[in-house]
Amino acid sequence: MTASRALFPALFAVLAADARAADPPAPAAGPVSYYKDIRPILAQHCNGCHQPAKPQGGYITTGHADLLKAGEREKPGVVPGRPAGSYLVDQVALHDGKAEMPKGRDPLSPIQVQLVTDWIAQGAADDTPVSARAAPVDADHPPVYAAPPVVTAVAFDPAGEYLAVAGFHEVLLYSAKDYRLVSRLIGLAERINAVAFSPDGRRLAAAGGSPGRFGEVQVWDPARGKLIVSAPFTFDTLYGVSWSPDGKVLAFGCADNTVRAIDPAGGKQVLFMGTHSDWVLGTAFSQDGKHLASVSRDMSMKLTEVPTQRFMDNVTSITPGALKGGLMAVDRRPPLPPVPVRVFGIDTGRKARRMQKVPTDAPDVPPKVYDELLIAGADGTPRLYKMHREVPRVIGDDANKVREYEALPGRVASVAFGPDGKHFAACSSLDGKGEVRVYETDTGKKVVFEQVSGPAYAVAWRPDGKAVASAGFEGKVWVHDPATGKLLAEFVALPSAPPATSR
Ligand code: HEC
Repeated sequence: MTASRALFPALFAVLAADARAADPPAPAAGPVSYYKDIRPILAQHCNGCHQPAKPQGGYITTGHADLLKAGEREKPGVVPGRPAGSYLVDQVALHDGKAEMPKGRDPLSPIQVQLVTDWIAQGAADDTPVSARAAPVDADHPPVYAAPPVVTAVAFDPAGEYLAVAGFHEVLLYSAKDYRLVSRLIGLAERINAVAFSPDGRRLAAAGGSPGRFGEVQVWDPARGKLIVSAPFTFDTLYGVSWSPDGKVLAFGCADNTVRAIDPAGGKQVLFMGTHSDWVLGTAFSQDGKHLASVSRDMSMKLTEVPTQRFMDNVTSITPGALKGGLMAVDRRPPLPPVPVRVFGIDTGRKARRMQKVPTDAPDVPPKVYDELLIAGADGTPRLYKMHREVPRVIGDDANKVREYEALPGRVASVAFGPDGKHFAACSSLDGKGEVRVYETDTGKKVVFEQVSGPAYAVAWRPDGKAVASAGFEGKVWVHDPATGKLLAEFVALPSAPPATSR
């Protein structure tokens, strides 16, 4: 023992430090800061269920003044100077190894509970710097726009009723018929980077956050304008949200280089994959929901097995130098419509002489499940890939690649298949200009390409196939006819802006 201690002094120092960490925490050495110590704890563990859009138990933890108020049980959350009289402390403290809050989650660490207790004992002051004091933003105090937002996400719902547009601190829900503002879904995240409707259209997911502070996934009931889930992840904004085809898993990309997914009903994390080496900006599920593709600024597209959370494969090449430019967008090709198969029988009646063929009512044959993914990014070239490898990898190959399309000018931030998968749209930005294009998926032919009046960062296809919405700089939203390129409508995604102009 003595000998090994002499041999491994560093190891013993580490073990001793560990033993100390397990001891009950000593009272905080110095004053506890609301802004630096308490606010981040509440943001990670409480705000998801205690914010103006979702005040569970009638209690709000997103601002200092609200912490002092009482919730439904009419006990003040924080009483300055009196931790014992503060209901918040009672709710987060361990009783028989369990804590009431955060509800259904792991309890706060003893150190965090101690910080909260000490902060209240020291007077529960609000030391938020004046420069960081923002007016509250919620449904009663909707965001005020100094300038139109940069729109980084648009999505139609499956019924073609709504067009969701990412705004500042909110998702703006427009009617997909006349592009009038229907409702404002105001949440905690300042930035919304991605929006996606669930396959049944009953939920709208948004991924975003406040840069350098927190990332957030929101799940809304769009018809009622109600926030169902607000789940915080990481300390930076989130991207590329997508639903599994059965609507039971919601995936997104993170700036900590991970791909994650939650159960959209409760917000619990169900998938974590960490083999990307840069921000993950896009995700897409296979048709059977068993695999998840992710694209990243690290230039690669990777495949994860959903039930096991296991990294499966690099879909793009692993040959050094083969990849060009970070990837920003991915969309999975929709299933091909069932091919009607007619089995012809021969009528033995009188008409038989004319050899009339009579269709039987044989069922349509479902297509073979074969997943294709469209990706694009900084080099402007959309590429089509097979999701699953069919031949063993050979060094230097890019065996899953099906086709490359003519590059758009600049960077492509968004791609979207049309409802039948025969066409796709892509949009780009370069030097203050933007372009929206529609291509034929299987021939690569450009069907239409339109210059728009500013950089375009987001594109979505209306489910009836008859309109493509794109959006970008200065809040502009353009709606084009994908067959002719005709501009059908144009508006600025700003609550105070005049309604859309149709042409
Ligand atoms: C997953 C959702 C969820 C999370 C996360 C959560 N809470 Fe709650 N909280 C609730 C619900 C729901 C209630 C209503 C009472 C109940 O169901 O237990 C509640 C009630 C409370 C109340 C009592 C309000 C009243 O007067 O009735 C306090 C205080 C509270 N929570 C504090 C916190 C704090 C502090 C955190 C973070 C450490 C937290 N909660 C995290 C869901 C949550």
